[in-house]
Amino acid sequence: MGRKGKTAGGEARRSTKVASKAEKKKGKVVQMDLFRGDRKGAKAGKGAASKAAAPKPEAPKTEAPKRRAAKREATKRGGRAAALEVVADADLEAVAGAEAVAAPEAAAELEAVAAAEPARSGKVPAARRRETAESLGKRQREISVAEFFQKNRHLLGFDNPAKALLTATKEAVDNSLDACEEAGILPEITVAIEELAEDRFRLSITDNGPGIVRGQIPKVFGKLLYGSKFHILRQSRGQQGIGISAAGMYAQLTTGQPIRITSRTGKGRPAHFFEIQIDTTRNEPKVLTDREVQWDQEHGTRVEMDIAGTYKKGRRSVDDYIVQSALANPHATVHYRPPKGDEFHRERLTSELPREPLAIKPHPYGVELGVLISMLRDTKGRSLRGALQQDFSRVSAKVADEISAAAGLNPESKPRSLTSAQVEMLFRAIPKVKIMAPPASTIVPIGEGLILEGLKQTLKADFYTSATRPPAVYRGNPFVVEAGLAYGGELPAEEIIDLWRFANRVPLQYQQSACAITRGALTTDWRNYGMQQSKGALPAAPMVLFVHMASVWVPFTSESKEAIASYPEIIKELRLALQEVGRRLGAYLRHRRRLAEAEQKRSYITSYIPHIGIALKEILGLSKTEEDKIVKTLTETLEKSRLP
Ligand SMILES: Nc1ncnc2c1ncn2[C@@H]1O[C@H](COP(=O)(O)OP(=O)(O)OP(=O)(O)O)[C@@H](O)[C@H]1O
Ligand SMILES: [Mg+2]
Repeated sequence: MGRKGKTAGGEARRSTKVASKAEKKKGKVVQMDLFRGDRKGAKAGKGAASKAAAPKPEAPKTEAPKRRAAKREATKRGGRAAALEVVADADLEAVAGAEAVAAPEAAAELEAVAAAEPARSGKVPAARRRETAESLGKRQREISVAEFFQKNRHLLGFDNPAKALLTATKEAVDNSLDACEEAGILPEITVAIEELAEDRFRLSITDNGPGIVRGQIPKVFGKLLYGSKFHILRQSRGQQGIGISAAGMYAQLTTGQPIRITSRTGKGRPAHFFEIQIDTTRNEPKVLTDREVQWDQEHGTRVEMDIAGTYKKGRRSVDDYIVQSALANPHATVHYRPPKGDEFHRERLTSELPREPLAIKPHPYGVELGVLISMLRDTKGRSLRGALQQDFSRVSAKVADEISAAAGLNPESKPRSLTSAQVEMLFRAIPKVKIMAPPASTIVPIGEGLILEGLKQTLKADFYTSATRPPAVYRGNPFVVEAGLAYGGELPAEEIIDLWRFANRVPLQYQQSACAITRGALTTDWRNYGMQQSKGALPAAPMVLFVHMASVWVPFTSESKEAIASYPEIIKELRLALQEVGRRLGAYLRHRRRLAEAEQKRSYITSYIPHIGIALKEILGLSKTEEDKIVKTLTETLEKSRLP
């Protein structure tokens, strides 16, 4: 209490005192910091070193009000800068640690400020020991990809508990849908989330896919960067070979439990049950259990894991993800049992599988120099012409000769004999030659009809529309953009629209502002279509906007696959698709406005018709029957003039 009541002057005096005492202590404290972790050096100031290396204890709770009061006081006194200084002081107090807490308050403070002083002054004492190339060399070693992603799990979408639950579900569901489609099976997916404790959940995803052969199960679930999709340019949800093993690693990290897999590849074959962990230092699977089990399902895979997470409803929830996944996958039957609340069941809207997306070779326009060098080194083609023809899409013998000529190279030359300077000439020649766009048939959009049907089933609105653009190309990769919207009805008015983003039929929930789809929507002028839009914002309207990009390779901004990179070609297509649905919405809104205006006019005129009848009766001396007839005729004429 005493300190809380201190005057501004008192605070200022305290700071000066602290600084001078800190000055005296500098030498000792610097040693503490510099020799941390160095055994020899630690001897010089052993006690101090161990104190410094210990984890910073949190400031005791009672410090918080003092800190706030001091900050308020300082803000009054000297504005923001002074307040920040007090906050910094308070932070330093925390550094003092448990010992300091027990000591008299002022002394603890002095210790703490002194401890941080060298960092503030930036002065380095002469005694500091530097690393040598040799000492660094002893510490340099390979980093396993699993260790890397364990430390950087935010890159994979495991940066907060709510997102972790969503990411783990998504990785398993994506794999199930991919596997079913690849095997030509209409997917039936069951997702169940059970709450084990407030912050712990048991996740189970079951599919009716082709199953996974026993020998591959450990690596698929217990090794990062292991998968079947990375080396193929084909439209699929998975690309990287990280997804499900990363989810398993997160489960292991947060609950210590292994990922559990049951898989069966067909009737007459046994089902296998595995419990797998990842040895993160080697990025290798550790199989804890491997046995045959009885499973009533003929083929398919069940993945179960216990993870730390938070279950929430509303935007960016697992619930949202499931509803949106069902919308983007009309050929899938989806069952979902959330930890609480209503279950979700959606029968497939079509029993026709999406056309099988074909794998393509890279297109020359998208190749990078380094990739071209390694392609020519590893090619099976005997001549430059043969290599270009074999390894790229849309390169005929004629096109290969044109590229060689533009590069000043002989098409008969051996690919491996080309110098790097020659490959660079070849690389620069590629854009000069006209090459057909990659085959668009490899892209399988959802289609206007099914988007429309899905929107109608999912949202209660007044107006729906959808549009699928013709295929386009970015960096040599073909892609298709589709958009759809639902407007009015029960959708919340006066709010910023809901933007539902999808890539290869997967809903994207996070990093909305970093996504090309958002950029496309923001740079579309929705006011042209009768909507309200502030500068740099999405329009405000009762509307859900659906946008899907399908491609053989979606350029995600990170491994967590949450946002699409803004290639100009992609932005252009997005805007064209949005303009198309926007125009249709605009026409609907104009029509609705005209109807409302006509209705208003009509009711206005209607109210005058009886008076006209009375006036005509008086002026022309009509009978009551004639008056009624006139009123009837006028009403009918007005009715006929109603807009359709
Ligand atoms: N339910 C499943 N049924 C059949 N095969 C599966 C299933 N789940 C995973 N796989 C196989 O395991 C591989 C690894 O899956 P993982 O999710 O780690 O990577 P991915 O799907 O290839 O790419 P991404 O990291 O982008 O998800 C897949 O490529 C697929 O071959
Ligand atoms: Mg995957």
